[in-house]
Amino acid sequence: MKKKVTKAIFPVAGMGTRFLPATKSVPKEIMTLVDRPLVQYAIDEARAAGIKEFIFVTSRGKGALEDYFDHAPQLEQELRKKGKDALLETLKSTNMESGAIAYIRQHRALGLGHAVWCARRLIADEPFAVMLPDDVIAADTPCLQQMVEAYEQTGGCMVAAMEVPPEKTSSYGILDVEEDMGSVVKIKSMVEKPKADEAPSNLAVIGRYILTPSVLSNLNKMKSGAGGEIQLTDAIAQEIGKDNGGVYGLRFRGQRFDCGSKSGFLQATVSFGLARAELRDDLARYLHEVVALDKAGQ
Ligand code: G1P
Repeated sequence: MKKKVTKAIFPVAGMGTRFLPATKSVPKEIMTLVDRPLVQYAIDEARAAGIKEFIFVTSRGKGALEDYFDHAPQLEQELRKKGKDALLETLKSTNMESGAIAYIRQHRALGLGHAVWCARRLIADEPFAVMLPDDVIAADTPCLQQMVEAYEQTGGCMVAAMEVPPEKTSSYGILDVEEDMGSVVKIKSMVEKPKADEAPSNLAVIGRYILTPSVLSNLNKMKSGAGGEIQLTDAIAQEIGKDNGGVYGLRFRGQRFDCGSKSGFLQATVSFGLARAELRDDLARYLHEVVALDKAGQ
């Protein structure tokens, strides 16, 4: 029996410089898509996949994140007094059971691999998930849940995978496929942010991982890689070809938004807005008008 995946690491220590000045005082993960912060989408996806313990790797200036997951007694009292039950219910999804959430500081920005390694003592000897809240994935079956189901068949390590335009490989971890089984692929090598002419394929790692604890041991001895940072991709690559292990990619079903970029963030806002019954008609009408005006102006 494979051990169940019940812990997830959320690396949220990044400074979010692409969104300055907004991120001067607001953590990027608290920026909202419609009415929910980015991090809430990741938490909901994790819960749907059976995650029970949530480990945030943070940095200076991320206090708003801790408050977000805490109770807000004054606000709750006000809402109760006014009989705003629906809003009270909405707030519930932001609360965590006591002890279910932990915050670890990454004291120096040494890379994604280092951020994950900072949480090693809370993982111990069990498989765990890593979720990058910048990657927001809209899907009927939440992406991490799809991965947990696939992982139950494969074991080893599993990364979410998606084809990207060949000229974009230098923004991603890129997979070299040994065996293509349709949605699941077995990996023979993986490389962090290769230039287009050096990339083994255009199949990219998206920010969802299920990893074995041996990846953490690999990180113990990891030297810096691409961009001078300690790379998670390199630590996962060391698991390739191991007995009872190996590394797999899952071409998930769903639409991924790169909310680490302004354009991706705006697209996600529109898409999630259109998905909401109460906003759909107004927003769609507005978008039609904008497109029509744009065409008329050309
Ligand atoms: C990280 C990973 C990269 C992965 C990407 C997915 O890069 O290092 O392998 O493809 O997330 O979003 P970052 O976007 O943090 O530079």
